[in-house]
Amino acid sequence: MPLNKRHLCNMNTLVSSDIVMAARLLQQGQLVAIPTETVYGLAANATDTRAVKEIFRVKQRPAYNPLIVHVTGIDAMRPYVRYIPDAAEALIKAFSPGPITVLLPGNGVLPDVVNNGMPALAFRIPAHPVTHALLEMLPFPLVAPSANIFTTVSPTTPEHVKKNFDGAIPMILDGGDCGVGIESTVVGFNDNGIPVIYRKGTITADQIAAITGEVLENNHTTTLAAPGMLPNHYAPVTSLVLKNRSEMNIPEGVDVKQVAVLCFSKLLDNVPQHQQEILSPDASLAEAARNLYKALHRLDEMGLKLILAERLPDTGIGKAINDRLQRASAGRHIDTQP
Ligand code: TXA
Ligand code: MG
Repeated sequence: MPLNKRHLCNMNTLVSSDIVMAARLLQQGQLVAIPTETVYGLAANATDTRAVKEIFRVKQRPAYNPLIVHVTGIDAMRPYVRYIPDAAEALIKAFSPGPITVLLPGNGVLPDVVNNGMPALAFRIPAHPVTHALLEMLPFPLVAPSANIFTTVSPTTPEHVKKNFDGAIPMILDGGDCGVGIESTVVGFNDNGIPVIYRKGTITADQIAAITGEVLENNHTTTLAAPGMLPNHYAPVTSLVLKNRSEMNIPEGVDVKQVAVLCFSKLLDNVPQHQQEILSPDASLAEAARNLYKALHRLDEMGLKLILAERLPDTGIGKAINDRLQRASAGRHIDTQP
């Protein structure tokens, strides 16, 4: 199933590290893909309703799914929020700039289209030096969802962004490969100010609890409880099944030449090597996160019948990786017809 590119217009998409040009385009209300330490984002001026709407159109993303506002520091959040809970301030101080997003009570200054008029507004201080310099240059914050078509695999290189948006946006700001590799941990705060994790990431529940004392996990997958955390997110075009290592068998009726394999640290013996990706030969979960989407993009591009993925150890960052793989596998069945 090819990506639906009917909505694209035919502009030349420049891949360049020219920050001044990126700033100029954003000031004109255009969209620019930007590097962050987690994944590439599709950025627009957060104060410009028309530009923000354009993100939803180009990304084919439903309007109910709110966007993250990217800023240079905590003081740049204050004009847009009613207050910052103590636990949020502590987490921002502990982990920002870095892969954490906090949900704060918005004050209505930013247009409703950013967060679909919800009370909470998401903020993040990205750690990538290129995007940090870009934000310093701009008089407004940037909204930036991951730079992929809705529900598909997220981008960690300029080439991944190009695969989705070539001809649809004027520029991809090149900041190299993303070092963290999966999206930020999203943390909200309940009425008692206790942090609630809405999306798992490389900043783990234990790390958060070490700062705030307490942390809750939101395990709902409905759009109402956690907008955007749909069960079928992050999906490659190829059907993906997620298995424990001991259960990674070639399904009956499927030719081994039609199976791509995503392994944690060791290849499978019975599948040709070029059909496999290893996430971390040293069994490092941080390295596995960094390589996850690149490996999925490559295996998907092989156009085989199935991606057989190994479930990682369900601890620390492994939980966030398993969460992405689980969503990538949702709703899939294995077609065993030749
Ligand atoms: O690492 C990241 O967070 C990347 C980079 C580009 O910054 N961005 C990213 O954005 O992953 P996106 O739009 O693909 O995912 C944002 C997530 C969604 O699950 C969305 O529903 C949630 O954050 N979110 C945003 N605003 C929210 C809000 N006000 N309330 C609840 N969830 C919110
Ligand atoms: Mg996304």
